[in-house]
Amino acid sequence: MLEVVKYNSNWGILASSTSHLSRGNDISTIPVFDAPESGQLSEQMLSSFDAAGVLILENFVSVDDCHRLRERTLELIDEFDSRSVKSVFSAMEQTQIGDKYFEQSGDKIRFFFEQDAFDDKGDLKQRKENSINKMGHAMHDLDPVFDAFSRTADIANVVRCLGYDDPVLLQSMYIFKPPRIGGEVYCHQDSTFLYTDPESCIGFWFALEDATTENGCMHFIPGGHKGPLKELHYRGDDGEMKFKTLDDTPWPEGATVPAEAKAGTLVIFDGRAPHLSGANLSDKSRHAYTLHVIDRKSHYPAENWLQRSADLPLRGFE
Ligand code: FE2
Repeated sequence: MLEVVKYNSNWGILASSTSHLSRGNDISTIPVFDAPESGQLSEQMLSSFDAAGVLILENFVSVDDCHRLRERTLELIDEFDSRSVKSVFSAMEQTQIGDKYFEQSGDKIRFFFEQDAFDDKGDLKQRKENSINKMGHAMHDLDPVFDAFSRTADIANVVRCLGYDDPVLLQSMYIFKPPRIGGEVYCHQDSTFLYTDPESCIGFWFALEDATTENGCMHFIPGGHKGPLKELHYRGDDGEMKFKTLDDTPWPEGATVPAEAKAGTLVIFDGRAPHLSGANLSDKSRHAYTLHVIDRKSHYPAENWLQRSADLPLRGFE
């Protein structure tokens, strides 16, 4: 059985709990710590992150702050007329390719439905907030509540500890993973979609509700970030988004470890960290908020899907 090992920043390994997956005799772990004071990562946290490519910090944000973000999101959904746009996001089917509403959302706040959201007549099967796959991709720059959640001194400190001296917030997503129809996400690396040269993408995933194996929590391949980037998503000369295979070695069988997370937990992961999430067939939603940060000094290709207009330049934590 695989293990999720819980550390305490002062005392090393505190406890370990057996995860729900197994794969022969191989042992892999996802490091879990209590959130450090002021976002100041310890040497042990940094070395664990370097080894695993993923780091779980429990109680990083308050449950009140999680609720505030959720409430603000419900207000934004209320203002969104779901009859006006029926854009579907499916990681498995890549329905967003060729969808201009998606491809031009890098500097906007837009809503993408689950593939199973609509009935045969084109009407929503569940209420609006239980039909949406995600909202993206610039709430952190366009909405004051998201801006405040995204630009705390604690997050800025974490980013500084990770070695970024000129970070910028590239993308924000509110992931709903709604009950019963929350879609599966296949194993991928985020640098495939947010490529920079040199690579600098790092993900910050906040559990706004408890994420479990039942409602579709994230899974990672610990240490998988040491391998190559396997795919690149880019805009071809014809203007269409495409995938280029960079390395066709399959992911190791059964190597993923569930990253169950209580509300308020922050999961930090390297842009090359392989991860996935299961479908949510349960009756509980699994809301999460993600931020992706890059180094301003890295080259950002014009071929990346996410582009911003000149009047909304990328900003750091200031
Ligand atoms: Fe991802």
